[in-house]
Amino acid sequence: VFDEVCDTTGVTLTRFMNEVAMLNPEIRELTTLFGAIDTACKAMSNLVKRSQLPSSQTLGYQGEVNVQGEDQKKLDVITNDLLKRALRFTGRLGVLASEEEDVPVDLIGSATSDAREIVIEEGEKYVAVFDPLDGSSNVDAGIPTGTIIGIYEHDDSCEVDPECLADDCTEQEAQCLANTLQPGTNLVAAAYCLYSSSTFLALTLGNGVYIFTLDETLGEFVLSKPQVKIPEDCKIYSMNEANLEKWDAPLQKVVKGWREGTGKSGERFSSRYIGSMVGDVHRTLLYGGVFGYPGDTKNPNGKLRLLYEGAPMSFIMEQAGGLSTTGKERVMEITPEYVHQRVPVLMGSKNAIQEVIDAYAAE
Ligand code: AHG
Ligand code: MN
Ligand code: MN
Ligand code: MN
Repeated sequence: VFDEVCDTTGVTLTRFMNEVAMLNPEIRELTTLFGAIDTACKAMSNLVKRSQLPSSQTLGYQGEVNVQGEDQKKLDVITNDLLKRALRFTGRLGVLASEEEDVPVDLIGSATSDAREIVIEEGEKYVAVFDPLDGSSNVDAGIPTGTIIGIYEHDDSCEVDPECLADDCTEQEAQCLANTLQPGTNLVAAAYCLYSSSTFLALTLGNGVYIFTLDETLGEFVLSKPQVKIPEDCKIYSMNEANLEKWDAPLQKVVKGWREGTGKSGERFSSRYIGSMVGDVHRTLLYGGVFGYPGDTKNPNGKLRLLYEGAPMSFIMEQAGGLSTTGKERVMEITPEYVHQRVPVLMGSKNAIQEVIDAYAAE
């Protein structure tokens, strides 16, 4: 134990990323991006915490409706602008997609009127997708919220002729060229910041999950949980049960089994749900259990967005030894057809998720 403590005591995110870059020179530029993410998460944490002060004026609604049809909170907009600026000044990003932007944004300018004007400058190797403030319906009450980020490489795999960018690309072709329509299996990194009793930053670069805690006295994220592994079993399920009667029959059967202790584990589960995906997933990672936003008869694809909620969080969950499924397929293998596509998500402890997968397979 002493060695382990010795190895990880006082490892800041900056030092961690420098060591990763030294050992893996090919992803040095990726680690540069995390410098911007580090700073942005500290700034957003500060904004969220200070928003509760009478002088802040940052709570409440922006007075706009976003592309999701949601009434934007002021902090949805403030955090979106902050994260866009932080990522843009790395010079490593050509394009980004955000919950709060209608279409992919070309970082050289501002939000494109549509995805046509996206121009990828030399050396802009990455595409970032993010949810700047997740769980924002909770922010006025000071309940935990977070930020979710996914990083893809900008590859030229799209066969669309860039010439169409001049005038007649379809939205689909433009988003293909913007490279934002990639499946989760293409992610090179995923991270979330959680603004709670402490400020946490969890990340994976494809080689395990590392959780850092913001030490406010240092102003640095320090490594607190290296190589996080989710417990294979745990008796917690975390979903909005108000929709239970509208879920698919196999899922209803499994959840009722968990409630009554008649499921595979024979154990009776308890329910924990805070309505902020980042907080619910963080607890699931550490304690085990199942977090989900299933599809239902009203919304067959559920509520969570594949690109910047489902895929990055599934990457982290799988890297911690968990599973993430729609019930019928692995969330990370789904290629988005459009930026804000929604997806049913059930993620968490391997054995409990396997029970859901088996129930769907048996229907
Ligand atoms: P966002 O605030 O980014 O729009 O995301 C909210 C999501 C997610 O955080 C949470 O799991 C889910 O909405 C809660 O939805 P319900 O309130 O319908 O349960
Ligand atoms: Mn929202
Ligand atoms: Mn969200
Ligand atoms: Mn959001």
